[in-house]
Amino acid sequence: MKQTVSLNSGTDMPILGLGLWRVKEEQECARVVNWALAAGYTHFDTAQLYGNESYLGSAFKDADVKREDLFITTKIKNNNQWWVDLIPSFEESLQNLQMEYADLLLLHFPVTELRRPAWRRMEELAASGRAKAIGVSNYTIRYLEELLRECAIKPAVNQVELHVYLQQPELVQYCKDHDIVVEAYSPLAHGHGLDNPTLAAIGKKYGKSPAQIMIRWCLEAGTVPLPKSVHEDRLKENCDVFDFELDVDGMTQLKQLDTGYRTAWDPTHVA
Ligand SMILES: NC(=O)c1ccc[n+]([C@@H]2O[C@H](COP(=O)([O-])OP(=O)(O)OC[C@H]3O[C@@H](n4cnc5c(N)ncnc54)[C@H](OP(=O)(O)O)[C@@H]3O)[C@@H](O)[C@H]2O)c1
Repeated sequence: MKQTVSLNSGTDMPILGLGLWRVKEEQECARVVNWALAAGYTHFDTAQLYGNESYLGSAFKDADVKREDLFITTKIKNNNQWWVDLIPSFEESLQNLQMEYADLLLLHFPVTELRRPAWRRMEELAASGRAKAIGVSNYTIRYLEELLRECAIKPAVNQVELHVYLQQPELVQYCKDHDIVVEAYSPLAHGHGLDNPTLAAIGKKYGKSPAQIMIRWCLEAGTVPLPKSVHEDRLKENCDVFDFELDVDGMTQLKQLDTGYRTAWDPTHVA
């Protein structure tokens, strides 16, 4: 995964990453990390909430990989967004990961009352160099507007649910206009909808699977997909998406699949 996108923090991020939600057990983390590294993944997406930072830390330590060749994201969970808790919780994350810094640190959710002061703590971590880039997750345009009005350091990334069934063009355009990279979480819609005939037909044209078409669509939309798998063959399949491009006809057909279907919660109505 050599291709990267430049973040507004000045760092480069590989344009496809491996999602690690629900990769839970120590042995499984070790297996998945080794298979992923062998397949060419260098970008890994975890979170305090996933409960696997320490397993991943051990897996990376045991693997034959240099820290500077990895791009590691973690996220601050809701009850660690309190003023006194955020920085100590991040230090614990780094300890668990056995790393000196995170490449990207995100606020996991836009928590009412907490998200605004929490961002000042995030800025302190960016200034200290322990988080090379900082960003947010599950932010709608409204929360981004609030943040951009007040922040000293702009978010580099907004990680949101995004796939062919939930395309969110206004949010993607807003982020583009403000130099914020969108990461597409659940790019396979959590495995739902892979049997759609449109995906199969487009896949047939390129000799690609429905999953590869969904991931490629995220790339064509200018976003950074984070597919998750715990199977070696699927890990390989999901990153084998750089030898074709979807044409206008394919993109037009995929546009029709946008039903607004969400696999996760809808952050629109948080106060
Ligand atoms: N910031 C947030 O709030 C947030 C929320 C959700 C997710 N995320 C991030 O986004 C990542 C991905 O999202 P996700 O885990 O919800 O779902 P996803 O990547 O959309 O889909 C994963 C599901 O699809 C299956 N799958 C993977 N590759 C496949 C393939 N080639 N063919 C058929 N099935 C395949 C997986 O099964 P197997 O594992 O058994 O292969 C798993 O059940 C997460 O791991 C996490 O890092 C972030």
